Amino acid sequence: MDFFHYQQNQLMAEQVPVKHIAEQFGTPLYIYSRATLERHWHAFDKAFGHHPHLICFAVKSNPNIAILNVMAKLGSGFDIVSQGELERVLAAGGDASKVIFSGVAKTEAEIARALEVGIRCFNVESEAELERINQVAGKLGKVAPISLRVNPDVDAHTHPYISTGLKENKFGVSVEQAREVYRRAAQLAHIKITGMDCHIGSQLTELQPFLDATDRVIVLMEQLKADGIELEHLDLGGGLGVTYRDETPPHPTEYAKALLDKLKDYPLEIILEPGRAITANAGILVTKVEYLKRNGDIHFAIVDAGMNDMIRPALYEAYMNIIEVDRNLTREPQVYNVVGPICESSDFLGKQRTLAIAQGDLLAQRSAGAYGASMSSNYNSRPLTAEVMVDDDKAHLIRRRQNLDELWQLESVLP
Ligand code: LLP
Repeated sequence: MDFFHYQQNQLMAEQVPVKHIAEQFGTPLYIYSRATLERHWHAFDKAFGHHPHLICFAVKSNPNIAILNVMAKLGSGFDIVSQGELERVLAAGGDASKVIFSGVAKTEAEIARALEVGIRCFNVESEAELERINQVAGKLGKVAPISLRVNPDVDAHTHPYISTGLKENKFGVSVEQAREVYRRAAQLAHIKITGMDCHIGSQLTELQPFLDATDRVIVLMEQLKADGIELEHLDLGGGLGVTYRDETPPHPTEYAKALLDKLKDYPLEIILEPGRAITANAGILVTKVEYLKRNGDIHFAIVDAGMNDMIRPALYEAYMNIIEVDRNLTREPQVYNVVGPICESSDFLGKQRTLAIAQGDLLAQRSAGAYGASMSSNYNSRPLTAEVMVDDDKAHLIRRRQNLDELWQLESVLP
């Protein structure tokens, strides 16, 4: 559930009309709802009840420091994949001791910085990385807490570009190799084994793949116990899907119950890394209809947001709902392809959408809070959009729109 709703045919973000926010800050514009973010985070946190657990928000889904700060105030942990994300978490007031560091290519500098600030755990993705972490920790006179990311070879039944738990994916260490790598880790002087993790993919709409992955890591945990290696936590990653159209993903409560049924007898803290399930439906992308045009039988609504602002439809053929900001019941509905200003045919926000609109109207793309602003670019020399967070009856600018002269600020001409 989220806090975007119609009131007298006007789309509201909590208590504020979206139209007013767009008038004040211009379009294209991301708008987030604080109450929705908090509600989604609490849904995960409450679902695990008294079982020891830590919800580590996946920063990549939306790294704006205002969002991270809302999470930090809730007591959230963070799942990061780069030093950039780490510095954002710290800048936003996040607690380093609740940070989990995932990612296949951690550099020496990133490892050193994470050790310096005292993160909770490195999710190690290869034996080579394990050796590197040991060396860097040794140089700094520290001991690095680690978990091994196990690739359980489970089909997540999601888009191939966001599936990560299959043998052919680059992520983690196979179940077969993991036991050996753990034995090696146990011998290293600057490594402390604290956990095990796996993340099998994103936008999962069924429980079964999560449960299959959990079964596989439990078998491995038992083997490790026989080797004298005891774990303190099990991190089951992120990946719980959301409703973009008609998907019916499990609720966090259902998901937690199913996991706890398998894990309740193990004295392990459960760590989760949800991103999308917290942020997706807490955000919309507001865009203005610049032109309506017709090519043959196809009607186009040409809007001012493009694939540089929201790449999900272009990259994954993702369906995201598009609605009118002001519903005008006197207008004739028409079926439109909603397309952006970019010079690529993949530049669309949605195809075959029935909308009652005229030039100059505002549209809102729903579920845009995850992997929207965070994946945006300056392609076609388009400035990064502004971002606003609504908190009850107030709209706060949390990222100003990029100025045009900032587009080439990092560049220089030859002497
Ligand atoms: N943990 C790890 C190690 C991950 O790789 C990811 C996402 C997450 C947690 C969070 O997953 P979530 O709960 O958000 O599903 N850009 C794509 C999604 C890429 C996800 C990458 N990894 C999209 O727009 O659909």
